[in-house]
Amino acid sequence: MNRQNIYILGIESSCDDTAASIICNGKILSNVIASQKIHEEYGGVVPELASRAHQQNIVPVVAQALAKANITKEQLHAIAFTRGPGLMGSLLVGTSFAKSLAYGLNIPLIDVNHMQAHILAHFIDEKGFNKPPFPFLAMTISGGHTQIVKVKHYFDMEVIGETIDDAVGEAFDKSGKILGLGYPAGPVIDKLAKLGNPKAFQFTKPKVDGLNFSFSGLKTAILYFIQKETKANPKFIEENLNDICASIQYTIIRILIDKLKLATKQTGIKHIAIGGGVSANSGIRQALKDGEQKYGWTTYVPKFEFTTDNAAMIAIVGYLKYLEGDFSEQNITASARLKI
Ligand code: KG4
Ligand code: ZN
Repeated sequence: MNRQNIYILGIESSCDDTAASIICNGKILSNVIASQKIHEEYGGVVPELASRAHQQNIVPVVAQALAKANITKEQLHAIAFTRGPGLMGSLLVGTSFAKSLAYGLNIPLIDVNHMQAHILAHFIDEKGFNKPPFPFLAMTISGGHTQIVKVKHYFDMEVIGETIDDAVGEAFDKSGKILGLGYPAGPVIDKLAKLGNPKAFQFTKPKVDGLNFSFSGLKTAILYFIQKETKANPKFIEENLNDICASIQYTIIRILIDKLKLATKQTGIKHIAIGGGVSANSGIRQALKDGEQKYGWTTYVPKFEFTTDNAAMIAIVGYLKYLEGDFSEQNITASARLKI
């Protein structure tokens, strides 16, 4: 029996990326992202500028996603959009656009939780990538979030640990700022760390009970360390950049891996999936692989393009909800602090 082709448009606009993607059943046909360069000169995302850029980008990005998928908007079965969490002004652009288009085309509208989407990105059909079995643990690590989630089923998730202050991506970005590395610094630190000694400098790990995280103390420790060292040697950063980056990255990875060890111990679950921008980090990827040998974990790392913010992850959630007939009303509103 031939299965009908279900086409869903996913729209993501929660932060500084305007993205649209078309999924047909479980397969991604197009995945378009317009990243906003404007924020680089400010060293972080400026909400008002992000919202304005979304308004400029959203029509061409959606048009491109349809063109790349080689379908027309009339062939769509539903429109999925990020309802939250995120920046309100940014979310409003995607939400209003999705609502209007779904209304105009007279097709269902599907709201998506951005954090759930980072996790459910693992269910996109992709050659060479296995889907985690339920229940599994998901660690979402990005510039805006750091969580460990127990995933019992697609939409039955429980947050069992999260940051009490900065997100892990912020720890990378703020450390990078102290070192003068520009924004976002995560990928730069990753690259520089490859040529450094991770044990050259020691930073104490924060003491946070249970499965929660804290990264603000680490940032302060790094700041004081750099201030002290550059006072003694103004060329300290320049002369030790690789070792500093490797040591910072090593400390962050230890914090994440230690919490994962505790989470697997507490839950008895050894299938671990990661998502979010920081999961692009080569050190984290290696540490997870090592965990397979050392602790008997089975780990799931998404394809690179589905780790950072993207609309393919919104489209897959749209598809899963479509199959369940879980649609939104036209009066739905964006929610900046939406919880899992
Ligand atoms: O998921 P994402 O694109 O956006 C948010 O929702 O925040 O994550 C962006 C974050 C930034 O903090 C960036 O520095 C970090 O992910 N990041 C990395 C790497 N690539 C991106 N951090 C460490 N190593 C990387 N290779
Ligand atoms: Zn995200």
